[in-house]
Amino acid sequence: MRILFVASESYPLVKTGGLGDVAYSLPHALQEQGADVRMLLPGYRELLQELDEVRILGWLHIQGSGRSHDVRVLEATHPAFSVKLLIADCQELYDRPGNPYLHPDGYDWPDNAERYTVFSRLAAMLSMDLLGLDWRAEVVHCHDWQTGLVPAFLASEPDRPRTVFTIHNLAYGGHFPHDEFMKLHLPGYWWSGEGVEFYGGFSMLKAGLVYADSITTVSPTYADEICTAQFGYGMQGVLQANRHKLTGILNGIDTQLWNPSIDPYIKAHYNAARRNPGKRINKQALLKSFSVEAGDEFLEKPLIGMVCRFVEQKGIDLVAEAIPTLMKETQASFVIIGAGDHVHEERLLKLQKQYPDRLFVYIGYSEELAHLVEAGADMFLMPSRFEPCGLNQMYSLHYGTPPIVNHTGGLADTVVDTTPKTLNAQTANGFVMQEPSVTALIDAVLRAIDVYANKRSWAKLLRTGMQSDLGWKNSALRYLDLYQHLLA
Ligand code: ADP
Ligand code: GLC
Repeated sequence: MRILFVASESYPLVKTGGLGDVAYSLPHALQEQGADVRMLLPGYRELLQELDEVRILGWLHIQGSGRSHDVRVLEATHPAFSVKLLIADCQELYDRPGNPYLHPDGYDWPDNAERYTVFSRLAAMLSMDLLGLDWRAEVVHCHDWQTGLVPAFLASEPDRPRTVFTIHNLAYGGHFPHDEFMKLHLPGYWWSGEGVEFYGGFSMLKAGLVYADSITTVSPTYADEICTAQFGYGMQGVLQANRHKLTGILNGIDTQLWNPSIDPYIKAHYNAARRNPGKRINKQALLKSFSVEAGDEFLEKPLIGMVCRFVEQKGIDLVAEAIPTLMKETQASFVIIGAGDHVHEERLLKLQKQYPDRLFVYIGYSEELAHLVEAGADMFLMPSRFEPCGLNQMYSLHYGTPPIVNHTGGLADTVVDTTPKTLNAQTANGFVMQEPSVTALIDAVLRAIDVYANKRSWAKLLRTGMQSDLGWKNSALRYLDLYQHLLA
């Protein structure tokens, strides 16, 4: 089956969050099942610098915002990619450093509508082989608002590929004003409540929802949640109307990249059968990266880790609020890695000054520290207000670092709260809060610390998590099933 995979980021070339992880692992998992997958990415500056061999396949002339662009289509190789890599190379739109969506000063690039419309137009054209490469996609699989227009461009084409649109996060809608719609020369008949119009502007995410043959999202619980006003970001009506074509398929994790028995970023390797001394050495190494020389006494006390984008979604504010109480009532220490909204960054740095011996904060993006936290912390905190899937709780399970999570989205689908009953049944693998509040968070952390003190129960919990099958294979098969179904 020929699949064109279209995304705005993909590890290790460009990644801002879990979308980058999925857009790397899923196409490879599909290929492993025998699919013929090509991956299309925009040619951001740092991405271009990392490519190995590059070949120019041709040029397409594409309508932008009040102007048009000659976009060069490149075929490239990179040691991490075994799927074929295609790059949309257009200097004036993508050749910019840093975060793909944001100006270095933190605001959205003002021409994002144009950047991703051109990218989507190109994807649609390539999938129909308008460049004459002798390869036509049977299925085009798009991800999040940046690629939402692809199904819309294809919808009116005769003899077109089938389209799948995956929602990774409904909070980002790709909303733009009407005059942008006009400047982009988008088809006038799209402009209606049944089309892309959304509260007076237009939404690229909505375009994906309306025009794709199938909508998926990254966990079954999130598929239900987004049909409600609480989680729907205004799209709940559209989603309810399209419920028949909406499925939740849980993400997997890449067990080559996230695996404590081979992970090159961590200090000592370990596995479910033999966790120590590996886990302890990693804990020491993690603390050392914050200049703490931890002796036995310190190492006995629980270390709680957190790695995330600093945005409200992740409940980072709840953690900041809970820290003073947790410092008073427990002997735990905390390692928090992340970047995002400056208010959260500043608040955590201030707290770090208040508790310099027990709170360690790193502001920034560090793949290495992210892995070391999974391996070195005793527990992983993820009190998200909503979480379409969440990968970090699955990495944590795999690394023997029980996650403490809120009951929502993919967290609800992957983490089983520890109670005497679930411990007995060997299903317990973490700690679940029933609501995203400071009290629920404190309560869950206190419960986790209680169980941590009981070595036998703790070992049981870790084993359950580490032995569970979290790889991509099952999900890849479900996507293939869905593609088959669309083609039938
Ligand atoms: P989301 O996609 O909403 O950010 P996920 O849990 O699905 O949440 O995925 C987050 C991914 O991004 C994980 O691979 C995580 O390790 C990584 N990540 C987030 N923040 C950082 C950071 N500051 N440094 C390194 N990796 C990070
Ligand atoms: C989004 C979601 C996250 C999910 C990731 C990959 O960024 O916030 O929950 O795991 O996409 O699907």
